[in-house]
Amino acid sequence: MSPADPPGAPVGASLRPWRGLIEEYRAFLPVSDTTPVVTLQEGATPLLHAPRLSERVSAEVYLKLEGMNPTGSFKDRGMTVAISKAAEEGAEAVVCASTGNTSASAAAYAARAAMTCAVLIPEGHIALGKLAQALVHGARVLQVRGNFDAALAIVRELPAHAPVVVVNSINPHRIAGQMTGAFEIVDVLGEAPDVHCIPVGNAGNITAYWRGYLEYRAAGRSDKLPRMLGFQAAGAAPIVRGAPVEEPETIATAIRIGNPASWYGATAAASESGGGVYAVTDEEILAAYRFLATEESVFCEAASAASVAGLMKLGVPAGSKVVCVLTGHGLKDPDLAISQSSVPPAVDADMDAVLAAIGI
Ligand code: F0G
Repeated sequence: MSPADPPGAPVGASLRPWRGLIEEYRAFLPVSDTTPVVTLQEGATPLLHAPRLSERVSAEVYLKLEGMNPTGSFKDRGMTVAISKAAEEGAEAVVCASTGNTSASAAAYAARAAMTCAVLIPEGHIALGKLAQALVHGARVLQVRGNFDAALAIVRELPAHAPVVVVNSINPHRIAGQMTGAFEIVDVLGEAPDVHCIPVGNAGNITAYWRGYLEYRAAGRSDKLPRMLGFQAAGAAPIVRGAPVEEPETIATAIRIGNPASWYGATAAASESGGGVYAVTDEEILAAYRFLATEESVFCEAASAASVAGLMKLGVPAGSKVVCVLTGHGLKDPDLAISQSSVPPAVDADMDAVLAAIGI
């Protein structure tokens, strides 16, 4: 029985089905009674306390596990709204450029809405799991000989040539849906955290979280606002440098972006909140990735670990309440996970051989 159950109630009586983001946060989203809701019951992701990370940085740290969404990343929050609005407008086809997660999410939600989905991905630079998702959900997948920025430049122009709706975060409905991540954090903590750490790629998510915190405060749900700390990979850090990066490079392929579409949104979130956008190296990202897996039992993407790498690097005032967004699931990129480990030894199917090899 949970503490919320009245005495004598059947076990679990306080649980009701989660209806997906649009129904749960309808009042804050650009939908009406006539919007067809396309949902996979995304959202309601865990906000997991991280005891060892908390000890390490002398703060109270929580991890927002966005890898627990239906397609394994935060993109589902924006996609449920973007695809529902596209359906309302009568769209039959959607398109996106992607480093992988947007394409996985767009493919799944488009299939649910019986729409055609085309995705443009940078050839050779997306994680295997994400490619598998786009393919299995039936998207038309094109590998562009160029990086994400080149693919997005084409996608921006596509609606002038074909009847398609763009579902990248330049579509404002994506940002609206992604605000719900901030709502959930405040709903669980009872107020906004002191510090919010988040990876930055195309910069839509930091823009959305900041807007979400502002809207929730305006609605009287939180008295305070967090300091927003955004983290780019050092080899793909245009906002930190103050200029686009022609050839972005990082092992965190999800954020391998040289000219973010929501650049202004990110700098506004950072400056208005008293935060900032900073760079973390691939080594720092991988150290955080391994720490999360071995010390907190959380398997996230490398890009996601940038938020924790940044927290470890910058530090926060002692006792701060901190939320790090872990944007995507580690299973998206099995190649990276295996490359970070030693090859398991093969042994004969024999007790002595197993005992000798186990070494316990
Ligand atoms: N983390 C992950 C796992 C991502 O997939 C992305 C972006 C980000 C962080 C950065 O978020 O772009 O809103 O600043 N992925 C996009 C994609 C670009 O195509 O899947 P952002």
